[in-house]
Amino acid sequence: MGAIQRTIKAVDGVSLRIFERDVVGVVGESGSGKSTLANVMMMNIRPPLMFVGGSVRLNVGKEVLELQKLDRDVLREKVWGREIAIVPQSALNALMPTLKIRKLILDVVKSHNPDVVEDEVIGLALKRFREIGLPEIAINMYPFELSGGMRQRAVIAIATLLNPRLLIADEPTSALDVVTQKMVLKTFLDVYNRNIIKSIVFITHDIATVRQIATRIVIMYAGKIVEDGSVEEVVAKPLHPYTDGLLGSVLTPEEEIRKRGLKYIPGQPPDLANPPPGCRFHPRCPFAMDICRREEPPFIEVEKSRFVACWLYSKR
Ligand SMILES: Nc1ncnc2c1ncn2[C@@H]1O[C@H](COP(=O)(O)OP(=O)(O)OP(=O)(O)O)[C@@H](O)[C@H]1O
Ligand code: SF4
Ligand SMILES: [Mg+2]
Repeated sequence: MGAIQRTIKAVDGVSLRIFERDVVGVVGESGSGKSTLANVMMMNIRPPLMFVGGSVRLNVGKEVLELQKLDRDVLREKVWGREIAIVPQSALNALMPTLKIRKLILDVVKSHNPDVVEDEVIGLALKRFREIGLPEIAINMYPFELSGGMRQRAVIAIATLLNPRLLIADEPTSALDVVTQKMVLKTFLDVYNRNIIKSIVFITHDIATVRQIATRIVIMYAGKIVEDGSVEEVVAKPLHPYTDGLLGSVLTPEEEIRKRGLKYIPGQPPDLANPPPGCRFHPRCPFAMDICRREEPPFIEVEKSRFVACWLYSKR
């Protein structure tokens, strides 16, 4: 008997543009496709993930790179770390425990450019450490010798070593206590405000975090982007019923939202191997209409830079 093959469209028909100086918070429940979207944005596609169609374009000066056309070797040499870098989900645990931070840094940089001069790399790393308030001594330590917050800052230092224009951070604060979370968020803002990186995509399921760090918010539901707009506008006036549910009252204190998480919307997200027809949110939506059960709502710009996929805002 062969293994059962199920195809899951973990991100499906999404359209996302990141501009210079954007800090985009990507929010969605577990399994909504946030990490998959991050991998697609870098074209880091490895089995079981497959890229079925679409394009990932990166403006580099006057040139536009179509990342989906590049081999992994070219991506590694030209794009990853230099143009787009990622702090992957669970990066804290992924640090090789048997290697000192110094060696981890050298390994990362050498994977992009085997011919680098080690002293130069370490010099660069120490400069970055100073910039983000990490003691230089940390470079000679093992990951387990650092506190959670210091380790996460070491990860940020490593990811930003080559001054990537875009930094994608996948749930970088989820495993940390509230005080450490604040410190790590500040580190992201430090590298951003110092212009070391130009833009951030910050993935989280914590709306409160997004409100602290992001300029724009992107809401994902069941592999789709359902809303995209400035944090200010989306928080003040969410358009999509799912966003509305996530945010609760805008007057809700941040601690309350943090405690409640995203769990209070009744029902479960769908199985992506067999998503419901029409709008994927319709089984949970208090406003669902006939058309919502039949046809997928288009993702449209309802006001300048405010996008939503919901039949409440589309002409049929
Ligand atoms: N290695 C895998 N094999 C099979 N299915 C996967 C794999 N990785 C992800 N998926 C599926 O793809 C969908 C999206 O997963 P993804 O990890 O992108 O979600 P996420 O929003 O990052 O979730 P989380 O908040 O838990 O990190 C999920 O339905 C998941 O079951
Ligand atoms: S399209 Fe319909 S079901 Fe989907 S969110 Fe809008 S109103 Fe609700
Ligand atoms: Mg994830």
